[in-house]
Amino acid sequence: MTDQASSAVIVRPACEEDWDRLWPLLVDMGQVDASSNAVRRFGRAIRYDAEFLPVAVSEGELAGYAWAHQGPVHLRAGRSSVRLNDLFVTPACRRHGVGRLLFAAVLRWATERGADWLEWQASAAALPFYARLGYRGQPERDPEHPFFEVTLGRASPGDCP
Ligand SMILES: CC(C)(COP(=O)(O)OP(=O)(O)OC[C@H]1O[C@@H](n2cnc3c(N)ncnc32)[C@H](O)[C@@H]1OP(=O)(O)O)[C@@H](O)C(=O)NCCC(=O)NCCS
Repeated sequence: MTDQASSAVIVRPACEEDWDRLWPLLVDMGQVDASSNAVRRFGRAIRYDAEFLPVAVSEGELAGYAWAHQGPVHLRAGRSSVRLNDLFVTPACRRHGVGRLLFAAVLRWATERGADWLEWQASAAALPFYARLGYRGQPERDPEHPFFEVTLGRASPGDCP
């Protein structure tokens, strides 16, 4: 990926036509089920209001994707979290700002939905990326996959580092 191409990356919600090009990215992310099952869940993810599946498009190809969902509003406290489940950039497109754009899109979506927190867990390999964005995880619960939580009331989408 050239620097010129990275400046032309578009992040938009996934649509049905993206499936064939998205599937290899899901396989690379790992832990996949049969594609015939996954495609049904993909259909739900792009239609269901509480899920968000943005893709990054560069020169007509998928450079990455993210997937997040909002949990139910807490019965008593009236608060809710968005969980970032997946964030993936194809190896050829890494270190060109695509991950940052996808993360910003998720942060914006969570904020616009009125969620109180954005949370995720990261693998060791992704920690330098999150550190660069200004986030430090909490390793106490799961040292191999530190837990991250951003309080959205205090971080507007424009604040994404
Ligand atoms: C983690 C991942 C999404 C980062 O995507 P990316 O497109 O390469 O990230 P960006 O180019 O937007 O990087 C943003 C900043 O983090 C830095 N960064 C990214 N990866 C880094 C790494 N491995 N080590 C050090 N810094 C890193 C970039 O240099 C950049 O810094 P800059 O703004 O000073 O230039 C990507 O490496 C990936 O898909 N990894 C495999 C899947 C994965 O681990 N996902 C995370 C699950 S929680």
